[in-house]
Amino acid sequence: MADPVFIITGASSGIGAATARHAADAGYRLVLGARSLDKLEQLASELGGPERAAAVRCDVTDWGEQQALVSTAMERFGRLDVAFANAGFGAKRGFLKETPEHWRDMVLTNVYGAALTIRAALPALSESKGHLLLTGSVAGRRAPPGSLSSCTKWAVTAMGEAARQELDGSGVRVTLVEPGMVATPFFDSVPIDGALEADDIARAVMYAVGQPPHVDVNEILVRPTAQGV
Ligand SMILES: NC(=O)c1ccc[n+]([C@@H]2O[C@H](COP(=O)([O-])OP(=O)(O)OC[C@H]3O[C@@H](n4cnc5c(N)ncnc54)[C@H](OP(=O)(O)O)[C@@H]3O)[C@@H](O)[C@H]2O)c1
Repeated sequence: MADPVFIITGASSGIGAATARHAADAGYRLVLGARSLDKLEQLASELGGPERAAAVRCDVTDWGEQQALVSTAMERFGRLDVAFANAGFGAKRGFLKETPEHWRDMVLTNVYGAALTIRAALPALSESKGHLLLTGSVAGRRAPPGSLSSCTKWAVTAMGEAARQELDGSGVRVTLVEPGMVATPFFDSVPIDGALEADDIARAVMYAVGQPPHVDVNEILVRPTAQGV
């Protein structure tokens, strides 16, 4: 069998970029999506160039660009085995903070964008009996005061379970990855002492993906040891 193919949204940075490196080490060919094409091209070159990794500009809120991400996997590599809907960003807590435009972009990216990734990838994943992963959050399990960002991650938590139930019996596995605080550009500065590294989440992703086909790891919640809530 040809080497399996792994799509990642939000692959230009943080958890997505770290997962791309771990997946490449595990023998996957990669299709890397985000808006920063320069960063994606640099990463694709690091991961072995056009034979091993494709860089595709993809704003996840754009249906055509999401379809192009999957088309690249199918046309360049001939298959799709894993799709990781990971792109997202946050907002300051407080319903009087940030701007309405920031809220709109965040809701569209974190919720609509994740749903579009599922929609674009499902036909190919059904064909390969592949694996769908979503990046939720610990904040998709509890509601911090004034956090609309948390509300978007509650939606992603629900999306993971909704997709799992829809795909039951199809052979497609679904994993919701729920990180606690990870030191990535998501934050302006390192959030807490002892925060997770992006690699810590990438290893969790690869654990789920690496299980035998009859094992479906539905949720992985990973906090730093020093994070209370
Ligand atoms: N860091 C944490 O503590 C933490 C905790 C829980 C959950 N998460 C979640 O983890 C995921 C990854 O975040 P991270 O921590 O790795 O932060 P990050 O380093 O800032 O990465 C975010 C990624 O999302 C991409 N992105 C943002 N908007 C996009 C859009 N409209 N279309 C396509 N790509 C977009 C960014 O790329 P471009 O700007 O190049 O498009 C970047 O690659 C997010 O869903 C985040 O909510 C993070």
